[in-house]
Amino acid sequence: MIDFNTLLEMNKVLKKRQTKIILVGGARPNFMKVAPVYFELLKHKNFKPILVHTGQHYDKRMSAFFFRDLGLPRPHIYLDVGSASHAVQTARIMARFEPVLMREKPVLVLVVGDVNSTVACALTAVKMGIKVGHVEAGLRSFDRSMPEEINRLLTDQISDFLFTTCEDANKNLLREGIAPNKIFFVGNTMIDSLLKHLEFARRLKVHERLGMIGVKFGLLTLHRPSNVDNLNSFQRLMDAVSRIAQVIPIIFPVHPRTKKQLSKLHFLNYNEKYKTGIKIIEPLGYLDFLSLMEKAAIVLTDSGGIQEETTILRIPCLTLRNNTERPITITQGTNILVGTDPKRIEEEALKIIKRGGDIKIKKRPKYWDGRAGERIVKVLIKNLK
Ligand code: UD1
Repeated sequence: MIDFNTLLEMNKVLKKRQTKIILVGGARPNFMKVAPVYFELLKHKNFKPILVHTGQHYDKRMSAFFFRDLGLPRPHIYLDVGSASHAVQTARIMARFEPVLMREKPVLVLVVGDVNSTVACALTAVKMGIKVGHVEAGLRSFDRSMPEEINRLLTDQISDFLFTTCEDANKNLLREGIAPNKIFFVGNTMIDSLLKHLEFARRLKVHERLGMIGVKFGLLTLHRPSNVDNLNSFQRLMDAVSRIAQVIPIIFPVHPRTKKQLSKLHFLNYNEKYKTGIKIIEPLGYLDFLSLMEKAAIVLTDSGGIQEETTILRIPCLTLRNNTERPITITQGTNILVGTDPKRIEEEALKIIKRGGDIKIKKRPKYWDGRAGERIVKVLIKNLK
Protein backbone atom coordinates (compact mmCIF):
# COMPACT_ATOMS: atom_id res chain seq x y z
CA MET A 1 0.00 0.00 0.00
CA ILE A 2 1.20 3.53 -0.75
CA ASP A 3 0.79 5.92 2.19
CA PHE A 4 -1.09 9.22 1.91
CA ASN A 5 1.95 11.54 1.98
CA THR A 6 3.73 9.60 -0.76
CA LEU A 7 0.58 9.88 -2.88
CA LEU A 8 0.39 13.63 -2.32
CA GLU A 9 4.05 14.02 -3.29
CA MET A 10 3.50 11.86 -6.38
CA ASN A 11 0.53 13.96 -7.44
CA LYS A 12 2.50 17.22 -7.09
CA VAL A 13 5.33 15.84 -9.22
CA LEU A 14 2.91 14.45 -11.81
CA LYS A 15 1.08 17.76 -12.26
CA LYS A 16 4.26 19.32 -13.67
CA ARG A 17 4.81 16.63 -16.26
CA GLN A 18 3.98 17.15 -19.91
CA THR A 19 3.78 13.93 -21.88
CA LYS A 20 0.55 12.18 -20.92
CA ILE A 21 0.29 8.45 -21.44
CA ILE A 22 -2.95 6.70 -20.62
CA LEU A 23 -2.65 3.13 -19.35
CA VAL A 24 -5.84 1.12 -19.60
CA GLY A 25 -6.85 -1.72 -17.30
CA GLY A 26 -10.28 -3.26 -17.25
CA ALA A 27 -10.28 -6.83 -16.07
CA ARG A 28 -8.40 -8.88 -13.50
CA PRO A 29 -5.61 -10.15 -15.79
CA ASN A 30 -4.76 -6.59 -16.91
CA PHE A 31 -3.60 -5.01 -13.70
CA MET A 32 -0.39 -7.01 -13.18
CA LYS A 33 0.59 -6.25 -16.80
CA VAL A 34 -0.05 -2.51 -16.41
CA ALA A 35 1.74 -2.03 -13.07
CA PRO A 36 5.38 -2.51 -14.20
CA VAL A 37 4.94 -0.03 -17.07
CA TYR A 38 3.24 2.49 -14.79
CA PHE A 39 6.07 2.39 -12.24
CA GLU A 40 8.71 2.59 -14.95
CA LEU A 41 7.03 5.63 -16.55
CA LEU A 42 7.00 7.38 -13.17
CA LYS A 43 10.80 7.25 -13.12
CA HIS A 44 11.07 9.46 -16.21
CA LYS A 45 10.45 13.10 -15.58
CA ASN A 46 8.64 13.90 -18.81
CA PHE A 47 6.00 11.20 -18.67
CA LYS A 48 2.72 11.64 -16.90
CA PRO A 49 1.09 8.20 -16.67
CA ILE A 50 -2.69 8.25 -16.18
CA LEU A 51 -4.41 5.06 -15.03
CA VAL A 52 -7.82 4.46 -16.57
CA HIS A 53 -9.91 1.60 -15.17
CA THR A 54 -12.85 0.76 -17.40
CA GLY A 55 -14.72 -1.10 -14.66
CA GLN A 56 -15.19 -4.23 -16.80
CA HIS A 57 -14.35 -6.09 -13.60
CA TYR A 58 -15.80 -4.31 -10.60
CA ASP A 59 -16.01 -6.79 -7.70
CA LYS A 60 -13.35 -5.86 -5.19
CA ARG A 61 -11.88 -9.37 -5.37
CA MET A 62 -11.49 -9.01 -9.16
CA SER A 63 -10.22 -5.45 -9.12
CA ALA A 64 -9.51 -3.32 -6.01
CA PHE A 65 -7.55 -6.11 -4.30
CA PHE A 66 -5.22 -6.13 -7.31
CA PHE A 67 -4.52 -2.40 -7.13
CA ARG A 68 -3.76 -2.79 -3.42
CA ASP A 69 -1.53 -5.84 -3.89
CA LEU A 70 0.43 -4.31 -6.78
CA GLY A 71 0.96 -1.02 -4.91
CA LEU A 72 -0.91 0.93 -7.59
CA PRO A 73 -2.73 4.15 -6.64
CA ARG A 74 -6.50 4.29 -7.13
CA PRO A 75 -7.24 4.65 -10.85
CA HIS A 76 -7.14 8.32 -11.89
CA ILE A 77 -10.19 7.77 -14.08
CA TYR A 78 -12.89 5.14 -13.56
CA LEU A 79 -15.36 4.46 -16.39
CA ASP A 80 -17.67 2.21 -14.35
CA VAL A 81 -18.96 0.19 -17.33
CA GLY A 82 -19.81 -3.04 -15.46
CA SER A 83 -21.06 -6.25 -17.06
CA ALA A 84 -23.10 -6.43 -20.22
CA SER A 85 -23.16 -8.33 -23.51
CA HIS A 86 -19.99 -8.04 -25.60
CA ALA A 87 -21.46 -5.38 -27.89
CA VAL A 88 -22.93 -3.30 -25.11
CA GLN A 89 -19.84 -3.57 -22.90
CA THR A 90 -17.48 -2.66 -25.76
CA ALA A 91 -19.69 0.22 -26.92
CA ARG A 92 -20.10 1.55 -23.40
CA ILE A 93 -16.32 1.57 -22.86
CA MET A 94 -15.82 3.45 -26.15
CA ALA A 95 -18.49 6.03 -25.42
CA ARG A 96 -17.08 6.74 -21.96
CA PHE A 97 -13.43 6.70 -23.04
CA GLU A 98 -13.83 9.19 -25.89
CA PRO A 99 -14.50 12.23 -23.65
CA VAL A 100 -11.53 11.23 -21.50
CA LEU A 101 -9.28 11.38 -24.56
CA MET A 102 -10.76 14.71 -25.65
CA ARG A 103 -10.05 16.18 -22.23
CA GLU A 104 -6.64 14.63 -21.47
CA LYS A 105 -5.13 14.66 -24.98
CA PRO A 106 -2.54 11.94 -24.30
CA VAL A 107 0.24 11.21 -26.78
CA LEU A 108 -0.30 7.50 -26.35
CA VAL A 109 -2.86 5.03 -25.09
CA LEU A 110 -1.32 1.82 -23.81
CA VAL A 111 -3.58 -1.22 -23.68
CA VAL A 112 -2.69 -4.70 -22.43
CA GLY A 113 -3.84 -8.26 -23.06
CA ASP A 114 -6.96 -9.31 -24.89
CA VAL A 115 -10.08 -8.31 -23.02
CA ASN A 116 -12.98 -6.19 -24.29
CA SER A 117 -11.45 -3.10 -22.65
CA THR A 118 -8.29 -3.63 -24.73
CA VAL A 119 -9.94 -3.45 -28.14
CA ALA A 120 -12.51 -0.84 -27.11
CA CYS A 121 -9.92 1.68 -25.89
CA ALA A 122 -7.50 0.99 -28.75
CA LEU A 123 -10.23 1.61 -31.32
CA THR A 124 -11.43 4.79 -29.64
CA ALA A 125 -7.90 6.21 -29.52
CA VAL A 126 -6.80 5.34 -33.05
CA LYS A 127 -9.92 6.97 -34.54
CA MET A 128 -9.00 10.17 -32.73
CA GLY A 129 -5.50 10.10 -34.20
CA ILE A 130 -3.89 9.08 -30.91
CA LYS A 131 -1.11 6.52 -31.01
CA VAL A 132 -1.79 3.10 -29.47
CA GLY A 133 0.64 0.69 -27.82
CA HIS A 134 -0.36 -2.93 -27.24
CA VAL A 135 1.40 -4.83 -24.49
CA GLU A 136 1.31 -8.62 -25.11
CA ALA A 137 0.75 -8.24 -28.84
CA GLY A 138 0.86 -11.10 -31.34
CA LEU A 139 -0.43 -13.99 -29.24
CA ARG A 140 -2.73 -16.23 -31.28
CA SER A 141 -4.82 -19.27 -30.38
CA PHE A 142 -6.04 -19.46 -34.02
CA ASP A 143 -9.50 -20.05 -32.58
CA ARG A 144 -11.84 -17.28 -33.67
CA SER A 145 -14.67 -18.58 -31.51
CA MET A 146 -12.79 -17.11 -28.51
CA PRO A 147 -13.75 -13.48 -27.89
CA GLU A 148 -10.16 -12.84 -26.78
CA GLU A 149 -8.77 -13.95 -30.18
CA ILE A 150 -10.93 -11.37 -31.96
CA ASN A 151 -9.79 -8.72 -29.46
CA ARG A 152 -6.14 -9.62 -30.11
CA LEU A 153 -6.40 -9.61 -33.90
CA LEU A 154 -8.17 -6.28 -34.07
CA THR A 155 -6.04 -4.52 -31.47
CA ASP A 156 -2.83 -5.56 -33.22
CA GLN A 157 -4.03 -4.32 -36.60
CA ILE A 158 -4.59 -0.80 -35.27
CA SER A 159 -1.66 -0.44 -32.88
CA ASP A 160 1.45 1.66 -33.53
CA PHE A 161 3.67 -0.05 -30.96
CA LEU A 162 3.34 -3.82 -30.68
CA PHE A 163 5.16 -5.05 -27.57
CA THR A 164 5.66 -8.80 -27.71
CA THR A 165 6.50 -11.45 -25.12
CA CYS A 166 7.98 -14.17 -27.35
CA GLU A 167 9.30 -15.07 -30.81
CA ASP A 168 6.02 -16.81 -31.78
CA ALA A 169 4.22 -13.52 -31.38
CA ASN A 170 6.75 -11.72 -33.60
CA LYS A 171 6.22 -14.33 -36.32
CA ASN A 172 2.43 -14.14 -36.05
CA LEU A 173 2.49 -10.37 -36.49
CA LEU A 174 4.83 -10.46 -39.47
CA ARG A 175 2.64 -13.09 -41.11
CA GLU A 176 -0.36 -10.80 -40.66
CA GLY A 177 1.45 -8.01 -42.47
CA ILE A 178 2.42 -5.83 -39.53
CA ALA A 179 5.41 -3.63 -40.40
CA PRO A 180 8.56 -4.94 -38.66
CA ASN A 181 9.43 -1.47 -37.33
CA LYS A 182 6.25 -1.50 -35.22
CA ILE A 183 7.15 -4.75 -33.44
CA PHE A 184 9.21 -4.56 -30.24
CA PHE A 185 10.22 -7.80 -28.55
CA VAL A 186 10.42 -6.66 -24.93
CA GLY A 187 9.42 -9.64 -22.78
CA ASN A 188 6.62 -10.25 -20.36
CA THR A 189 5.36 -7.58 -17.97
CA MET A 190 3.21 -10.14 -16.15
CA ILE A 191 6.44 -11.89 -15.20
CA ASP A 192 7.91 -8.53 -14.09
CA SER A 193 5.11 -8.38 -11.52
CA LEU A 194 5.54 -12.00 -10.50
CA LEU A 195 9.28 -11.67 -9.90
CA LYS A 196 8.81 -8.42 -8.01
CA HIS A 197 6.22 -9.82 -5.59
CA LEU A 198 7.19 -13.47 -5.22
CA GLU A 199 9.29 -13.15 -2.06
CA PHE A 200 6.53 -11.25 -0.26
CA ALA A 201 3.83 -13.65 -1.49
CA ARG A 202 5.83 -16.63 -0.20
CA ARG A 203 5.70 -15.25 3.31
CA LEU A 204 1.88 -15.17 3.27
CA LYS A 205 1.68 -18.99 3.38
CA VAL A 206 -1.90 -18.98 2.15
CA HIS A 207 -1.90 -22.78 1.86
CA GLU A 208 -1.53 -23.01 5.63
CA ARG A 209 -4.52 -20.69 6.12
CA LEU A 210 -6.50 -23.11 3.98
CA GLY A 211 -5.45 -26.09 6.08
CA MET A 212 -2.88 -27.48 3.64
CA ILE A 213 -0.03 -27.90 6.12
CA GLY A 214 2.35 -30.57 4.89
CA VAL A 215 -0.28 -31.71 2.38
CA LYS A 216 0.14 -31.89 -1.39
CA PHE A 217 -2.71 -30.09 -3.10
CA GLY A 218 -3.87 -29.05 -6.55
CA LEU A 219 -5.17 -25.64 -7.62
CA LEU A 220 -8.01 -25.20 -10.12
CA THR A 221 -9.26 -22.14 -12.01
CA LEU A 222 -11.96 -22.19 -14.70
CA HIS A 223 -13.77 -19.31 -16.35
CA ARG A 224 -13.65 -19.65 -20.16
CA PRO A 225 -17.15 -19.33 -21.63
CA SER A 226 -16.44 -22.48 -23.70
CA ASN A 227 -15.80 -24.47 -20.50
CA VAL A 228 -18.35 -23.12 -18.08
CA ASP A 229 -21.28 -21.60 -19.98
CA ASN A 230 -22.58 -24.93 -21.23
CA LEU A 231 -23.66 -26.91 -18.19
CA ASN A 232 -22.99 -30.32 -19.79
CA SER A 233 -19.39 -29.46 -20.68
CA PHE A 234 -18.86 -27.87 -17.30
CA GLN A 235 -20.26 -30.92 -15.53
CA ARG A 236 -17.89 -33.22 -17.46
CA LEU A 237 -14.91 -31.12 -16.38
CA MET A 238 -16.06 -31.10 -12.78
CA ASP A 239 -16.48 -34.91 -12.95
CA ALA A 240 -12.82 -35.24 -13.94
CA VAL A 241 -11.70 -32.81 -11.24
CA SER A 242 -13.81 -34.66 -8.66
CA ARG A 243 -12.03 -37.91 -9.45
CA ILE A 244 -8.62 -36.24 -9.17
CA ALA A 245 -9.75 -34.73 -5.88
CA GLN A 246 -10.22 -38.21 -4.46
CA VAL A 247 -6.42 -38.57 -4.70
CA ILE A 248 -5.27 -35.05 -3.83
CA PRO A 249 -7.28 -32.11 -2.40
CA ILE A 250 -8.06 -29.41 -4.96
CA ILE A 251 -8.51 -25.75 -4.06
CA PHE A 252 -10.88 -23.95 -6.41
CA PRO A 253 -11.08 -20.12 -6.22
CA VAL A 254 -14.23 -19.46 -8.22
CA HIS A 255 -14.55 -16.67 -10.81
CA PRO A 256 -17.95 -14.85 -10.76
CA ARG A 257 -18.94 -16.27 -14.16
CA THR A 258 -18.19 -19.79 -12.91
CA LYS A 259 -19.92 -19.24 -9.59
CA LYS A 260 -23.23 -18.63 -11.32
CA GLN A 261 -22.83 -21.89 -13.23
CA LEU A 262 -21.68 -23.88 -10.19
CA SER A 263 -24.84 -23.01 -8.35
CA LYS A 264 -26.88 -24.29 -11.29
CA LEU A 265 -24.98 -27.60 -11.17
CA HIS A 266 -25.85 -27.95 -7.46
CA PHE A 267 -22.18 -28.75 -7.14
CA LEU A 268 -22.06 -28.49 -3.40
CA ASN A 269 -24.44 -31.46 -3.00
CA TYR A 270 -22.61 -33.25 -5.74
CA ASN A 271 -19.29 -32.70 -3.99
CA GLU A 272 -20.76 -34.21 -0.83
CA LYS A 273 -22.07 -37.22 -2.78
CA TYR A 274 -18.68 -38.02 -4.29
CA LYS A 275 -16.85 -37.32 -1.03
CA THR A 276 -14.16 -35.47 -2.90
CA GLY A 277 -11.76 -32.92 -1.56
CA ILE A 278 -12.63 -29.92 -3.69
CA LYS A 279 -12.39 -26.80 -1.56
CA ILE A 280 -14.38 -23.98 -3.13
CA ILE A 281 -13.27 -20.49 -2.15
CA GLU A 282 -13.81 -16.88 -3.30
CA PRO A 283 -11.42 -15.45 -5.94
CA LEU A 284 -8.09 -14.57 -4.32
CA GLY A 285 -6.11 -11.35 -4.54
CA TYR A 286 -2.91 -11.26 -6.58
CA LEU A 287 -0.47 -11.97 -3.75
CA ASP A 288 -2.62 -14.65 -2.11
CA PHE A 289 -3.05 -16.46 -5.41
CA LEU A 290 0.67 -16.28 -6.13
CA SER A 291 1.44 -17.65 -2.68
CA LEU A 292 -0.96 -20.56 -3.18
CA MET A 293 0.11 -21.32 -6.74
CA GLU A 294 3.75 -21.53 -5.76
CA LYS A 295 2.98 -24.29 -3.25
CA ALA A 296 0.63 -26.30 -5.48
CA ALA A 297 1.71 -29.76 -6.67
CA ILE A 298 -0.34 -29.29 -9.84
CA VAL A 299 -2.40 -26.50 -11.41
CA LEU A 300 -5.43 -27.14 -13.62
CA THR A 301 -6.62 -24.08 -15.49
CA ASP A 302 -8.15 -22.55 -18.60
CA SER A 303 -6.55 -19.15 -17.94
CA GLY A 304 -3.96 -17.60 -20.23
CA GLY A 305 -1.71 -15.90 -17.69
CA ILE A 306 -1.51 -18.84 -15.30
CA GLN A 307 0.13 -20.92 -18.04
CA GLU A 308 2.94 -18.34 -18.04
CA GLU A 309 3.20 -17.92 -14.28
CA THR A 310 3.47 -21.70 -13.71
CA THR A 311 6.19 -21.81 -16.38
CA ILE A 312 8.33 -19.46 -14.30
CA LEU A 313 7.38 -21.07 -10.98
CA ARG A 314 8.10 -24.54 -12.42
CA ILE A 315 4.73 -25.91 -11.32
CA PRO A 316 3.17 -28.60 -13.55
CA CYS A 317 0.19 -27.05 -15.32
CA LEU A 318 -2.62 -28.77 -17.20
CA THR A 319 -4.48 -26.43 -19.53
CA LEU A 320 -8.09 -27.52 -19.99
CA ARG A 321 -8.48 -26.14 -23.50
CA ASN A 322 -7.96 -27.40 -27.04
CA ASN A 323 -5.55 -24.62 -27.97
CA THR A 324 -3.29 -22.06 -26.40
CA GLU A 325 -2.11 -18.65 -27.57
CA ARG A 326 0.97 -19.27 -25.42
CA PRO A 327 2.76 -22.27 -27.03
CA ILE A 328 6.06 -21.21 -25.45
CA THR A 329 4.67 -22.44 -22.11
CA ILE A 330 4.56 -25.92 -23.63
CA THR A 331 7.86 -25.94 -25.51
CA GLN A 332 9.87 -24.15 -22.84
CA GLY A 333 7.67 -24.44 -19.82
CA THR A 334 5.70 -26.78 -17.66
CA ASN A 335 2.38 -26.63 -19.46
CA ILE A 336 0.48 -29.55 -21.05
CA LEU A 337 -2.51 -28.85 -23.25
CA VAL A 338 -4.95 -31.60 -22.22
CA GLY A 339 -8.16 -30.45 -23.88
CA THR A 340 -11.50 -31.04 -22.24
CA ASP A 341 -11.86 -34.82 -22.38
CA PRO A 342 -12.38 -35.86 -18.74
CA LYS A 343 -10.50 -39.14 -19.16
CA ARG A 344 -7.38 -37.45 -20.56
CA ILE A 345 -7.46 -34.76 -17.86
CA GLU A 346 -7.64 -37.39 -15.13
CA GLU A 347 -4.88 -39.54 -16.66
CA GLU A 348 -2.44 -36.66 -17.10
CA ALA A 349 -3.15 -35.29 -13.63
CA LEU A 350 -2.61 -38.67 -11.98
CA LYS A 351 0.65 -39.13 -13.89
CA ILE A 352 1.94 -35.81 -12.53
CA ILE A 353 0.75 -36.53 -9.00
CA LYS A 354 2.43 -39.96 -9.08
CA ARG A 355 5.66 -38.46 -10.38
CA GLY A 356 5.63 -36.08 -7.41
CA GLY A 357 6.03 -32.82 -9.31
CA ASP A 358 9.56 -33.56 -10.51
CA ILE A 359 10.24 -31.05 -13.29
CA LYS A 360 13.33 -30.86 -15.44
CA ILE A 361 14.81 -27.38 -15.16
CA LYS A 362 14.66 -25.61 -18.49
CA LYS A 363 15.77 -22.14 -19.43
CA ARG A 364 13.47 -19.23 -18.70
CA PRO A 365 11.89 -17.87 -21.92
CA LYS A 366 13.88 -14.96 -23.34
CA TYR A 367 13.21 -11.60 -21.66
CA TRP A 368 10.96 -13.11 -18.98
CA ASP A 369 13.42 -11.58 -16.58
CA GLY A 370 11.57 -8.82 -14.72
CA ARG A 371 12.69 -6.02 -17.06
CA ALA A 372 9.99 -5.90 -19.75
CA GLY A 373 8.46 -2.68 -18.35
CA GLU A 374 11.87 -1.05 -18.52
CA ARG A 375 12.30 -2.08 -22.18
CA ILE A 376 8.86 -0.75 -23.09
CA VAL A 377 9.62 2.65 -21.60
CA LYS A 378 12.99 2.77 -23.39
CA VAL A 379 11.15 2.25 -26.68
CA LEU A 380 8.72 5.05 -25.80
CA ILE A 381 11.50 7.47 -24.86
CA LYS A 382 13.15 6.85 -28.20
CA ASN A 383 10.01 6.99 -30.33
CA LEU A 384 7.60 9.46 -28.73
CA LYS A 385 8.74 12.87 -29.79
C1 UD1 B 1 -12.84 -11.50 -18.94
C2 UD1 B 1 -12.08 -11.50 -20.26
C3 UD1 B 1 -11.15 -12.71 -20.31
C4 UD1 B 1 -10.28 -12.79 -19.06
C5 UD1 B 1 -11.18 -12.78 -17.84
C6 UD1 B 1 -10.39 -12.85 -16.56
C7 UD1 B 1 -13.24 -10.53 -22.22
C8 UD1 B 1 -13.95 -10.86 -23.45
N1 UD1 B 1 -12.99 -11.57 -21.41
O1 UD1 B 1 -13.69 -12.62 -18.97
O2 UD1 B 1 -10.33 -12.59 -21.43
O3 UD1 B 1 -9.52 -13.97 -19.09
O4 UD1 B 1 -11.95 -11.57 -17.86
O5 UD1 B 1 -11.18 -12.84 -15.44
O6 UD1 B 1 -12.91 -9.39 -22.00
N2 UD1 B 1 -18.63 -10.50 -13.16
C9 UD1 B 1 -18.83 -10.23 -11.83
N3 UD1 B 1 -17.95 -9.41 -11.20
C10 UD1 B 1 -16.91 -8.83 -11.84
C11 UD1 B 1 -16.73 -9.12 -13.21
C12 UD1 B 1 -17.59 -9.95 -13.85
O7 UD1 B 1 -19.76 -10.72 -11.20
O8 UD1 B 1 -16.14 -8.09 -11.20
C13 UD1 B 1 -19.54 -11.41 -13.85
C14 UD1 B 1 -20.41 -10.67 -14.84
O9 UD1 B 1 -21.71 -10.57 -14.35
C15 UD1 B 1 -20.36 -11.49 -16.12
C16 UD1 B 1 -19.30 -12.55 -15.86
O10 UD1 B 1 -18.77 -12.35 -14.56
O11 UD1 B 1 -21.59 -12.11 -16.35
C17 UD1 B 1 -18.23 -12.47 -16.89
O12 UD1 B 1 -17.54 -11.20 -16.87
P1 UD1 B 1 -16.87 -10.60 -18.20
O13 UD1 B 1 -16.09 -9.39 -17.90
O14 UD1 B 1 -17.91 -10.50 -19.24
O15 UD1 B 1 -15.92 -11.72 -18.74
P2 UD1 B 1 -14.95 -12.71 -18.00
O16 UD1 B 1 -15.51 -14.06 -18.09
O17 UD1 B 1 -14.57 -12.23 -16.64
